[in-house]
Amino acid sequence: MNKQMQDYIERIEQALDTYLSHEGYEGQHAIIEAMRYSTLAGGKRLRPVLTLEFCRVCGGDIEQALPFACALEMIHTYSLIHDDLPCMDNDDLRRGQPTSHKKFGEGIAVLAGDALLTYAFEIAACDNGGLDPRRVVQAVTALAQEAGYCGMIGGQAIDISSEHEMLSYEQLKELQNLKTGALIRAAARMGCIVGGGDREQMRAALIYADRVGLAFQIQDDILDIEGNADTLKKSVGSDARSGKATFPAMFGVQACKKMVRELTDEAKLGVSIFPDAKFLRQLAEYLVTREA
Ligand code: IPE
Ligand code: IPE
Ligand code: MG
Ligand code: MG
Ligand code: MG
Repeated sequence: MNKQMQDYIERIEQALDTYLSHEGYEGQHAIIEAMRYSTLAGGKRLRPVLTLEFCRVCGGDIEQALPFACALEMIHTYSLIHDDLPCMDNDDLRRGQPTSHKKFGEGIAVLAGDALLTYAFEIAACDNGGLDPRRVVQAVTALAQEAGYCGMIGGQAIDISSEHEMLSYEQLKELQNLKTGALIRAAARMGCIVGGGDREQMRAALIYADRVGLAFQIQDDILDIEGNADTLKKSVGSDARSGKATFPAMFGVQACKKMVRELTDEAKLGVSIFPDAKFLRQLAEYLVTREA
């Protein structure tokens, strides 16, 4: 991991820890413990890192993007808690530890997800370090759109309702574009908005997010087949068990590896309009070679 990535992750994790410290709310110990348990357990922090980096390449102050980055990571974490529930993917291991419902029971797991989702919007709307209020509203709107029923939740709904069903290529692409692409798009959009990016920069960021988002989910699906639970720190084999509609199920692993390569190259090319896109290119590359 390079220095810039390490610095970003440190800042994000420190801010998440502070946001979730909730001093003075000791009466709500159980829910706070569950929120902290899943959020502070690690994870690649891809989405918040992208938020900060898009803000930086657009010429903005990453300090102002930090609350939005943390809000996005909280929404992502809530999506994982709910994704693992027995009524969804029914998985036992996440970020190297028992899933939220295994540790706290289903009720608290559902509520911890709800609380992270709600708190994320409070942070994004309130703690914006002097950012122009118009930009705050735009960034919060982008976050709501990408997280909601036309974004990640919409994708998750198609995902669970198409188990053991044959989807067309177009339907499958739409499913992945929503369930995983949307939160990565939120990172690009919020980063550009906070950083004051122009139309052309936003366009480039969205191309990158689109390609990286799809490559990331295809790689996730390949790792669900070929990966190892210890390295991945989450359950494997769960897609086949549930008859999930995935790219490897439709095209086979070899063809998927080629797709991931092509999408990554397109993503890297897409950000060439930014004078300093080295980190974005490295990040795209790391996502293809990752085993965890
Ligand atoms: C897992 O996301 C869910 C998908 C969208 C594939 P990540 O692989 O980013 O999970 P963490 O944040 O590193 O745990
Ligand atoms: C989940 O996709 C995407 C989310 C919105 C959480 P997966 O179900 O493939 O994610 P993992 O493999 O459990 O992390
Ligand atoms: Mg799932
Ligand atoms: Mg899952
Ligand atoms: Mg998966």
